Amino acid sequence: MAQIEMRNVQKFFGTNQVLKDLNLTIEDGEFVVMLGQSGGGKTTALRAIAGLETVTDGKILIDGTEVQGRKAADRDIAFVFQSFSLYPHMTVRENIAFPLRAVRMDTSERDRAIKEVAETLQISQHLDRKPSALSGGDMQRVAIGRALVRRPQALLMDEPLGVLDAKLREQMRTEIKRLHIARGSTSVYVTHDQIEAMSLADRIVILHDGILQMVGAPDVVYLKPTNLFVAKFVGSPVINIADATINGTSVSIAGAEGGFSFDEDTLARLRNTGSGVTLGIRSEAVLLKHAQAKGYAEAKATNIEPLGSHDIVDVQLGGTTLRARTESGFVRGEGQKVWVSLNPEQAHFFDRQTELNLAGAA
Ligand SMILES: Nc1ncnc2c1ncn2[C@@H]1O[C@H](COP(=O)(O)OP(=O)(O)O)[C@@H](O)[C@H]1O
Ligand SMILES: [Mg+2]
Repeated sequence: MAQIEMRNVQKFFGTNQVLKDLNLTIEDGEFVVMLGQSGGGKTTALRAIAGLETVTDGKILIDGTEVQGRKAADRDIAFVFQSFSLYPHMTVRENIAFPLRAVRMDTSERDRAIKEVAETLQISQHLDRKPSALSGGDMQRVAIGRALVRRPQALLMDEPLGVLDAKLREQMRTEIKRLHIARGSTSVYVTHDQIEAMSLADRIVILHDGILQMVGAPDVVYLKPTNLFVAKFVGSPVINIADATINGTSVSIAGAEGGFSFDEDTLARLRNTGSGVTLGIRSEAVLLKHAQAKGYAEAKATNIEPLGSHDIVDVQLGGTTLRARTESGFVRGEGQKVWVSLNPEQAHFFDRQTELNLAGAA
């Protein structure tokens, strides 16, 4: 087990800075997911922790000890890559045993280690087969087994489920979580998939353009995003965004008549309620009614997306379209008149320039 620390880490490839002053402490036994768009620096950060990549400046510490001078092989960290890269001419057993070749172990001890990993990953029946005879999911289990067999201090996974189809990804996600709980090893998992991040992480680390945007538990990242980027990146459908104006206790959306009333406290909390703000409101906080009611404004449904368990309804309010989550069939057809309100407790206001959440840090 290990605590991993990145202190003021900078990484340049030529003149291109891909990690910008990264500061992060991953606690012993924690499951951290690094989330972000492609090109954001996730793989580079992971490779730097593993020792597969040098850093230009800053420090990486494992259990409080600087590891710059330590080669990847001496860091006792296992890495699972997106492409499984198994040895095709070796059996599953030989693939899993491969990292043990440099470890002093007698045969029975080695067999026991392989057996245990194979049982945990439910691939015992495949031990004598070649990787080419396995399904994608089983191949990835073997790759994870190979990473785990040495009982590393930390397990790093770089989009390990990326090439699997959606259903298998969901199943493997559960297995990875179970494995983490059983082993208790410090895990860092990279993905661009926010659902994967939400479902796996103790804490999510959001990285964009080499800059750390937010670190927090999944519910905190979802409910209290530090900036507009985080708000937009996490959650499906994407959070509604609209230019808004705050006037006393009333919030109006650009182009729409009238305003929504908010309680004073909500708005008073904001650090700067200057004229222009960006409102962020998730679909479940856009409330619809069939008939006029206090605090509700008239709008028109322009599209209905039936998703089985619920619908996502687009409503046009002045020049702005908001997506609302409703129970199935709540709005019968496009063009229907509806009345819309916003749940003030789930409304976010961002500075239009800095894009920071005006309610401050979570
Ligand atoms: N070996 C390399 N040489 C030059 N540039 C690289 C190298 N590896 C990554 N980069 C650049 O660093 C940036 C971050 O890449 P990466 O860490 O792979 O991001 P992510 O994993 O989030 O997609 C990208 O702009 C990429 O082109
Ligand atoms: Mg990557």
